[in-house]
Amino acid sequence: MTQPLLFTPFQLRSLTLRNRIIVSPMCQYSAHEGIANDWHMVHLGSLARGGAGMVFIEAAAVARDGRITHGDMGLWSEAHVEPLARINRFMKSQGAIPAVQLAHAGRKASMQRPWHGNGPLDDTDRARGEDVWPVSAPSAIPMDQGWLEPKAMSLADIARLRADFRSAAKRALDAGFEAAEVHGAHGYLLHEFLSPLSNKREDAYGGSFDNRIRLALEIAGDVRTVWPDNLPLFFRISSVDGVDGGWTLDDSIALAKRLKDVGVDVMDCSSGGLMGSATAARVKRYPGFQVPYAAAVKRGTGMTTMTVGLILEAHQAEEILQNGEADLIAIGREVLSDPHWPLHAEAALGIDNEFASWPVQYGWWLDKRKKSLAPPDSGHR
Ligand SMILES: Cc1cc2nc3c(=O)[nH]c(=O)nc-3n(C[C@H](O)[C@H](O)[C@H](O)COP(=O)(O)O)c2cc1C
Repeated sequence: MTQPLLFTPFQLRSLTLRNRIIVSPMCQYSAHEGIANDWHMVHLGSLARGGAGMVFIEAAAVARDGRITHGDMGLWSEAHVEPLARINRFMKSQGAIPAVQLAHAGRKASMQRPWHGNGPLDDTDRARGEDVWPVSAPSAIPMDQGWLEPKAMSLADIARLRADFRSAAKRALDAGFEAAEVHGAHGYLLHEFLSPLSNKREDAYGGSFDNRIRLALEIAGDVRTVWPDNLPLFFRISSVDGVDGGWTLDDSIALAKRLKDVGVDVMDCSSGGLMGSATAARVKRYPGFQVPYAAAVKRGTGMTTMTVGLILEAHQAEEILQNGEADLIAIGREVLSDPHWPLHAEAALGIDNEFASWPVQYGWWLDKRKKSLAPPDSGHR
């Protein structure tokens, strides 16, 4: 049988991914002052052990005020580097490429952890010692009713933000990450600059399409200057806002072409998030619902694309690749459900290598068990 594409190695600049499965960035809201701890070690370590080609850690805030919640991971100081380096050493020992997402939450900063309400911080959070902090955005437009009104960023704020992204990228490199992604999706700061619904500026960063994409291009270019030529750079977009008058798929394609020019290698095509629940209501969720976005960006730009969103089964992932709709498959919640999803996917796609891809500590036993259960005439002993 032919080798499934999902398990055909993939080249990104000088990196060879062992397969095309990428663990999508997923905030754990479990850090203190942005510092990774044992939870992150076990969580990310098990995902690396689970067989993915690349494991993204969660969104790492480039500035303290750019955290979504008090529990976000960060890269705004040197103290963040070594705890992440330890995790990355382990992930690499398991054959996974460690990747980081660099982020600023913009007007969606200063939020409750999901399990504390998923809204703006309130008195219950204050009582827990989790103070509200002021938030910033392209324009002074809150996310929704009852949300904090952001400060419209000055040009000095923008210059500081660019410097923060550069410094965070340098720290990420020091921590041993081999791929980086700029978070331009889900209604966070860079997406707020892109969308005409959240960006009402009248200076060089607002108004026309070219002005609204300026900051995304500058920051991707800034990170590229820090990120070595041999290592890949991803950019995550919300391919559509899913709200009338918002950012569209054509906008995404036009932006991707420009990002390619500043050295972005992979377009990571997500959607929504700008206006909270409004987007979820408009962009219907079903398995693979975001695949057409990656396919359109790939067709329109010739770039490497990654798709994400309700990809649940190995055959579904393989079909996306076989159809040429995306090059890389990002998996989120399904690896929370089963961190060994990639290893099971290999078996589901007919690769029987006697558990050779599994860590030896597990694989030796699982192979022995399988053989002991095989019928006597099957050739397996
Ligand atoms: C717990 C959790 C945390 C997430 N954190 C991030 C994040 O830090 N950055 C990001 O771009 N997306 C984040 N997402 C979105 C996922 O990366 C992914 O795009 C989304 O879950 C859809 O994929 P799935 O259906 O495979 O879970 C998060 C999702 C979950 C469930």
